[in-house]
Amino acid sequence: MQQVFRVTGGNRLSGEIGVVGAKNSVLKLMAAALLAEGRTTITNVPDILDVSIMAELLRRLGCDVTHDAPSSLKGGTLTIDVPEVPSHQADYDLVRRMRASICVLGPLIARVGAADVALPGGDAIGSRGLDMHIAGLQKLGATFDNEHGFLVAKAQSLHGGQIWLDFPSVGATENILMAAVLARGRTVIDNAAREPEIVDICQMLVEMGAQIDGVGTSTLTIEGVDELHPVEHRTVPDRIVAGTWAVAAAITGGDVFVRGAIGRHLEMALDKLASAGAVVNVDDDGFRVRMEDRPRAVDIVTLPYPGFPTDLQPQFIALNSIADGTAMITENLFEARFRFVNELARLGADVRTDGHHALVRGRLALSGAPVEAADIRAGAGLVLAGLVAQGRTTVYEIHHIERGYPGFVQNLRGIGADIERVEQPSPFDD
Ligand code: EPU
Repeated sequence: MQQVFRVTGGNRLSGEIGVVGAKNSVLKLMAAALLAEGRTTITNVPDILDVSIMAELLRRLGCDVTHDAPSSLKGGTLTIDVPEVPSHQADYDLVRRMRASICVLGPLIARVGAADVALPGGDAIGSRGLDMHIAGLQKLGATFDNEHGFLVAKAQSLHGGQIWLDFPSVGATENILMAAVLARGRTVIDNAAREPEIVDICQMLVEMGAQIDGVGTSTLTIEGVDELHPVEHRTVPDRIVAGTWAVAAAITGGDVFVRGAIGRHLEMALDKLASAGAVVNVDDDGFRVRMEDRPRAVDIVTLPYPGFPTDLQPQFIALNSIADGTAMITENLFEARFRFVNELARLGADVRTDGHHALVRGRLALSGAPVEAADIRAGAGLVLAGLVAQGRTTVYEIHHIERGYPGFVQNLRGIGADIERVEQPSPFDD
């Protein structure tokens, strides 16, 4: 038996839905706390499993972590009390469970001159190398070995360096940044990632006393300082959760206000929704998405920010699967992200893939079926498709979805979705 989402399609979603802090920011903010001795407080924290895994990882490094999560619809508060000298050995099993835990690498090297971090696990969405993380940290003076499944890093002392990333990797930018803030001298990271989550981390580091120029641009210049101090910081709202709710409104022909979302972090995705026929209004408190007619097909090309986010690609394939027309989707970040179309096909979607392209021919209707979520965003895409499919869609392996969406069911039910979380045996088991 396992927990599943049972979705009955056909309801038009309307009303107001909320967004709290971003998973892909808070996990790194938690790692950044390691850079300063004493008590860091992080607010607007999503109540999701990945936060608990990261909290446990920090505890095993010697931190005292408390997580106050009053409701999964509201942001919680984390306090992280960091000792004078944290341990440098990241728990093998915890790191294997969550790839994002690799972000303790930079802070640990900077704070304690050593880090043993398991080669990470994570989503089944592609190879996801660490070469740029390692090459960048080597430029700052760290050395690396691979021992018994651990990446073993050492550094007597870190110094500044000039780093050109081959690709604006989010994780590599974060690790190098979080090491450079305590390195001796100046580090320049060229072709740095500039996602809103990177800006959020930079802002917290600056509050902690770091010297960073070029925040939000693709060239970050960091003057190392001797020490940082703990702060209180509010996590940036989750643009991918907000974008998922926006597609939920559009795909069901609904009218939804997404409170707490920052529209300018989603410009490309909201513009695509407008091209699909939605009326989108952005204001200081969030944005409203209204869709009257059947969506029109929209082409998508995923790219690093400010390009179209790969983390919204499956949701937009779902939208295109019932749209009027044919759309070409190009995935440039994670080659395996198209695997989910095999599940979408169970609902009757017409999607053909070839390498990193997918051709989606819109159908008038989908029909509910049992499907399996392979990762967070694929799972979200399947639920969105289930919201418009005729009859019942049962989504298995929902633990993936719940890693990234606090209060997923409650939130969607709040705007009128027919979705429940129930226990059921899987038809996919042998
Ligand atoms: N890459 C390398 N070598 C490296 C680093 C990256 O080849 O050293 C490749 C990866 O294999 C991948 C591409 O570069 O093909 C992009 O990787 P990036 O480092 O930018 O991504 P990430 O840090 O691993 C974060 C998010 C992802 C999100 C991507 C892109 C977190 C915890 N994860 O991953 O989020 O898709 O940036 O925006 O921040 C999700 O939330 O569902 C998710 C997968």
